[in-house]
This record gives sequence, structure tokens and C-alpha cells, in this order.
Amino acid sequence: MAESMKGLKRTARCAEVNETHVGTTVTLMGWVQKSRNKGGIIFVDLRDRTGIMQVIFEESDCGTENFERAAKVRSEFVIAVTGVLEKRSGAVNESLATGQWEVRAKDIRILAEADTPPFPVENDSRTKEELRLKYRYLDLRRPDLQSKLILRSRIVSSVRNFLADEGFLDIETPILCKSTPEGARDYLVPSRVHPGNFYALPQSPQIFKQLLMCSGFDRYYQIAKCFRDEDLRADRQPEFTQIDMELSFVDVDDVIDVNERLVQKVCKDAIGLDVTLPIPRMTWAEAMNRYGSDKPDTRFGMELVDVSELVKECGFGVFTGALSNGGSVRGINAKGMGSMPRKKIDALVEEAKGLGAKGLAYLSVNEDGTYKSSFAKFMTQEELDSLVKAMDAEKGDLLLFAADRNKVVWDVLGTLRLSLGRAAGLIDDTKFHFLWVTEFPLLEWSDTENRFMAMHHPFTMPMEEDWQYIDSDPGRVRAKAYDIVLNGTELGGGSVRIHQNDIQEKMFEVLGFSMESAYEQFGFLLTAFKYGVPPHAGLAYGLDRLVMLLTGADSIREVMAFPKVKDASCLMSEAPNVVDEKQLEELGIAITDASEELPAQDS
Ligand code: AMO
Ligand code: AMP
Repeated sequence: MAESMKGLKRTARCAEVNETHVGTTVTLMGWVQKSRNKGGIIFVDLRDRTGIMQVIFEESDCGTENFERAAKVRSEFVIAVTGVLEKRSGAVNESLATGQWEVRAKDIRILAEADTPPFPVENDSRTKEELRLKYRYLDLRRPDLQSKLILRSRIVSSVRNFLADEGFLDIETPILCKSTPEGARDYLVPSRVHPGNFYALPQSPQIFKQLLMCSGFDRYYQIAKCFRDEDLRADRQPEFTQIDMELSFVDVDDVIDVNERLVQKVCKDAIGLDVTLPIPRMTWAEAMNRYGSDKPDTRFGMELVDVSELVKECGFGVFTGALSNGGSVRGINAKGMGSMPRKKIDALVEEAKGLGAKGLAYLSVNEDGTYKSSFAKFMTQEELDSLVKAMDAEKGDLLLFAADRNKVVWDVLGTLRLSLGRAAGLIDDTKFHFLWVTEFPLLEWSDTENRFMAMHHPFTMPMEEDWQYIDSDPGRVRAKAYDIVLNGTELGGGSVRIHQNDIQEKMFEVLGFSMESAYEQFGFLLTAFKYGVPPHAGLAYGLDRLVMLLTGADSIREVMAFPKVKDASCLMSEAPNVVDEKQLEELGIAITDASEELPAQDS
């Protein structure tokens, strides 16, 4: 029978005892990891969030009643034990932080019994993730998940302390908001009081934090929940947390300065990592040209090489065709991979096609100096030699070329670079490479929408020197936008905001909003700007991603207490779910056909 806490007081957590406690009486509480009954002596491993302590029961120490109680405990029972901390009589257990001590029990209380869990609570559990997520509360007892969430909490404390010291104010913004276009798909909440009307859950506190600058708070931050109805991936969840900030009277360098120091402090506090400042910066154009990605993993080379000039007059129609369509021809050198079997190369070609390429051309340099290539027959020996030279290729290397629009070429080679680099063991997982990517394009052409879209968001300030091209060549205008990248993952992003109404209105015009609809959507912001707005800028990190990278987790799910799975459901609580007819009636909502297939998700 479960007993109460009456008269009991815990004196320490398992791994909080130390040398000075030896010989004293301690009271520990926690879960039974395992128990072994060796006849006259019972060993119980007691677990709490700090670690495991071995407890020894002998009838001569604890009396018959307690001994019998101890004989009853099984894995995951919750118990309280009082006893004397001793140096281990047997071998020291090096794998436990508490391995040199044990508690000789005098008293045990069973606080709760436990059914046999559906899977053992231990690290490296081979249990399927679905089952673990269904019983997430048990999964979360595993020390490796606990340590990740404990580190997450430490990171948040470190962020809060730093930002408070730097004069940032923690201000909450609403969760029930108005839907605004231009982002991902919104999560909507129906209004009972206003039938047919919906709130949207915030994709980020963007507009509110800008309004707080208008109100004069000068520096704002928030650990903010954000919601985006997007396709999920290993580093994406439908609800996630941002470390969100906004600053007044600043330009790009000021935001970068305070954030570099933030990153430095958090890395030191969280994992003892020394980040050298300044963090390197690279313009978006350089990142794309060298790595084919706006979030390059700079822990290894295999950089892209633009060979357009070299091949512009060659006889290979695939190359010259791409160039005459305004595209480019670029390659990567997969060093030492020249003997890759044909089957594997074909798989790379398929991977490239999956990324939108029409094909992938290759050339390998044989050990005797001759070439094996899918396009050798279209080029002269001199042309091939000059390509090999430009790619810095030696015997045994494999060259891969893509010819297409820049966007496709970057995508294909950027992705292949990563997968080949990883497969070849070129990525040193012990390294942490931070990078600022700056000067993003302001706008991005959307083939599906057939118009320009804001690359970051519509409130991002164009670079002064490029604003002159906004009508003649909008794609050329760069923005005062920056991302912070860690090991090839976008950790955070932000920008200087437009604070002049004329520029903001022009932006909306370029994005295809009529002034009327711009005011309908963002009127409160545009109006606020008429009453005195300071120049301002900000940035938001994905907290979950930061924790994921600092803990070395493979997935964002490992650093969130209760994550959702790929179809955005929670396997434990079974959200989302149907609701009462009555609730629907109150909201004026009729379900047409719940069994109808969901619309296809964005890729
Ligand atoms: P952005 O949309 O780039 O910027 O988001 C900032 C950071 O949030 C993280 N993030 C996500 N993390 C997990 N799951 C998701 N679905 C997800 N989506 C984004 C990323 C990203 O870098 N308001 C602007 C910031 C600003 O301009 O100040 C914004 O939200 O790490
Ligand atoms: P084809 O003439 O289409 O048989 O292509 C000859 C070689 O060029 C094959 O290895 C194709 O995979 C490759 N190829 C085709 N299109 C492209 C492209 N856009 N970029 C790079 N290589 C390509």
C-alpha cells in the first residue's frame, strides 16, 4: 500500500551527497531502477533526476518489517529510504557518479507502487519512438532525456540573466492574434463571441515586438511560443519556442554585437564551450557561391566552383544550354571518391533529380590520369583538362557538375556536398562553427505565386545603396537581414526593420498588396508608425534548435518535453481530437466530412 510523506523529509538528492555526508544519516527519495534480492541482503538502485544511489538492506540493520518491505519493491516503485551513507564495501562502480558510496538502510517507505512499465527506463533504449512517445512521462525518466531538458532549463536561465543585464525587458505578447498573410500556414482558433471569426496563433511575436519599440520599451525579449502549420522535419515542430528580441536605436552591427556575446555566454554556461569572437560573417551571395546554401556547414571544404566561363563555348549542350538560359555550371570535387561504383553515382544523379535538376554530370580522374566521364565525348581533351585543373582535381577524385538556374545548381550541389561530406567522414562532430550570414536578398521570386515574396518578412529594411533598384530590378535589392548559423543549421534570424512609412508602403506595393489590403492586414502597425517610431531591429533564435545542437541531439523532439510527431499529433494525449457537438454548436461550426482526405501538405 502506498504510504504518505508524513514525518518524512528528504535530506538530499541521490547524487547531491558528497564525502562530508559519509557516516551521517540521509533520507533519499526516488524511483527503483532495479532491485536484487540475494537472500539475506537486498540491493536497491534508487534513481532521481541527479543519478543513482545503491541502497543496501540487511535485516540486522533495518529490522524485519523494513526488510520485508524492501523485498517487495520492484522497478519504478517510488520509495523513501533513510540510512547511513557509507563508503562502498564492495567494488567501486566507476560508471556511477555515486559509485564510491552506498546507503545502509534503516528505514524504507513505499510511497507508490508501479505496474511493470511497457519498456525499461534506461538509456539507449531500443524501444520504438512511437511507444516511447505514447508513454512520454516514462520516456522522460530516462537520464539522457532528463539531462537534455535540464540543460535546456540552464540555457534559458543563462539567456534570461544575460539579457536582463543588458537592459532587455521580458514582456509577454498575445497568443490569440489576428491572422496575417506572408508566413507559413496559421493555426486558427474559432471565436464563440464573434461567430465566423477566428484568432490565429502567433507564428512569431514580430508585429507586437515592433509595437513595443513604438511604445518606447527600447529593448524587449521573450521566451515565446510560436505556432506554424508546416510540414515537420527533424528540426521543425508545429509549436516551438523562440528566444525573441527587439532593440531600438540600433543598426546591424549593434544587434550582432549583443548577440555574439549572448551566444558566447550561453555556450560557456551550458556546455563549457569557448566561442571565439567575433563570429565570422559571410554575405548571402558568398555563402551561396561557396557552399550552395544560406546556412553553410563550414566545418569542411568541398566548396562549389563556378566553371561557367570555362565551358561557355564547349560542345556539351547541357552546359551551354543552361548558360544561355541565364543559369550557371558549377561543380564540386568529391576528393578520393573517383572509384565510386556506377550504382552509387546513379543514386547521386537520382538525388539531384529529386532536387529539381535535370541531371548530374560527372568526371572521375583514373589512377592512370585518364578520365571517365558522362560528358567526355562532348568536349575536347583541352577543355576536359582545363575543367579538371579548375576543380583542383587529382587522381582518384570525382567531379560532379550541375548546369541549371542558379537556384537549382546551388540546391543540388549544396545538398550533395553535405551528404557526400558526411558519408566520407569529413564532418568533425566535436566542432561548433558559428557563422553570420548577412545581406540576404530582400525579395525572392515565387514561381507558384508568380510574384516577389519577402525573403524574411515584409518589415525588413532594404540596404540603402540598393533601394534605387526596387522598381527596375527588385531581385537585386539586398536587405539588412542576417541569420546566425551553427554547423549548417539556421539557429536564428532577424533584420533591421523598416521604420519609414513610405518605404513600408512601397514594400507592400512590390509584394502585390493594395494599400487598402495592406492597411486591412497591418493597419495598426502602419498607423503606429505615424506617431513616432524609433529605428529598430531584432532577432529570434529557435530555442529548441539551439538546445538540440548544444546537446548533440539528432532531433528537436529529444529536447522538447512533449513533442508532436510528423503528422502534428501528440501520441500521448491524442491531440488533435474531435470535440463535443455542443462545443461546435456554440462556435457555429459544422463539420462537413471529417473522413475526407486532408489537403496535401507543402513540401
Ligand atoms: P524566423 O521565421 O526565421 O524569424 O524564425 C526564427 C527562428 O525560429 C526557429 N524556427 C523553428 N524552430 C522549430 N520549428 C519550427 N517550425 C521553426 N520555425 C522557425 C529557427 C529560426 O531561425 N520574427 C522573425 C525574427 C525576427 O525578424 O526578429 C522570425 O520569426 O531557428
Ligand atoms: P544527356 O545528354 O541528357 O544524356 O546527359 C548527359 C549527361 O549530362 C548525363 O550524365 C546527365 O546526367 C547529365 N546532365 C543532364 N542534364 C544536366 C544538368 N542540367 N546538369 C548537369 N548534368 C546534366
